[in-house]
Amino acid sequence: MADPDPHLRQPWLTVHGIPMVNAFTHNWERVDTFQSRPEDIVVVTFPKSGTTWVSEIVDMILQDGDPEKCKRDVISMRVPMLEFSAPGKMAAGSEMIYVARNAKDVAVSYYHFDLMNKLEPHPGTWAQYLEEFMAGRVAYGSWYNHVKGYWERRRDHPILYLFYEDLKEDLRREIAKVAQFLGRELPEAALDTITRHTSFEAMRDNPATNYSKVPSDLMDHSVSPFMRKGTTGDWKNHFTVAQNERFDQDYAQKMSGSDLCFRTQI
Ligand code: A3P
Repeated sequence: MADPDPHLRQPWLTVHGIPMVNAFTHNWERVDTFQSRPEDIVVVTFPKSGTTWVSEIVDMILQDGDPEKCKRDVISMRVPMLEFSAPGKMAAGSEMIYVARNAKDVAVSYYHFDLMNKLEPHPGTWAQYLEEFMAGRVAYGSWYNHVKGYWERRRDHPILYLFYEDLKEDLRREIAKVAQFLGRELPEAALDTITRHTSFEAMRDNPATNYSKVPSDLMDHSVSPFMRKGTTGDWKNHFTVAQNERFDQDYAQKMSGSDLCFRTQI
């Protein structure tokens, strides 16, 4: 039977030479011509690196740590994704927060996401997918170029470069870092509330952050929930010894010359 929705399980298309979710490529000129305002806050990530997590943290900070205010709508409406809802260029002046996560956990998370999110092509087997990920043949392209690109850019631009692993290690410390970057003073109590509200368990159970309101023909949480594991080191449950060796070798080549370091366990 023909698929009723023409956007589901479509192969990605390329935008400026980078693979992109098919459904997001139409009207891309809106993204190209988008002009941000100085007061805008921009959260930038490679997929599956903590976009939702840091978006919720930023909104909580802006709402002075009031969880009720953060229930006003789902996260994708409160912190809209540019390529999804684009009134379409990142201008200088806005505050930019970049979130990076180690490649192995991103690959595992992305694989499960592509299994459940039908806006992506079907990822095939894990072994096949890992090859595609290493070659940058996944939506948004090369993880390696993405993380290195913003790591370099931060030398000339005011970018707060965060690591998923640091958030896992000490969420409260990292939230305070974000608040300081945004120039917001938070009382200790608000910091405590935000830390509780943005724990994995709280965000997993919160309909405003867990994507459970997205129709199941688009995101099938029974295949793999959006809030899947929320850990560092899950890659060890998926990489074979051979895959790990091959990945490490390729990684060393692709990341050579960069002083950007990731932790793959904490
Ligand atoms: P896993 O698939 O490894 O569980 P993004 O929002 O960029 O798509 O990233 C999604 C990943 O971040 C998922 O990883 C998800 O579980 C994890 N995540 C979301 N909120 C989190 C939180 N509060 N704490 C830890 N991990 C979180």
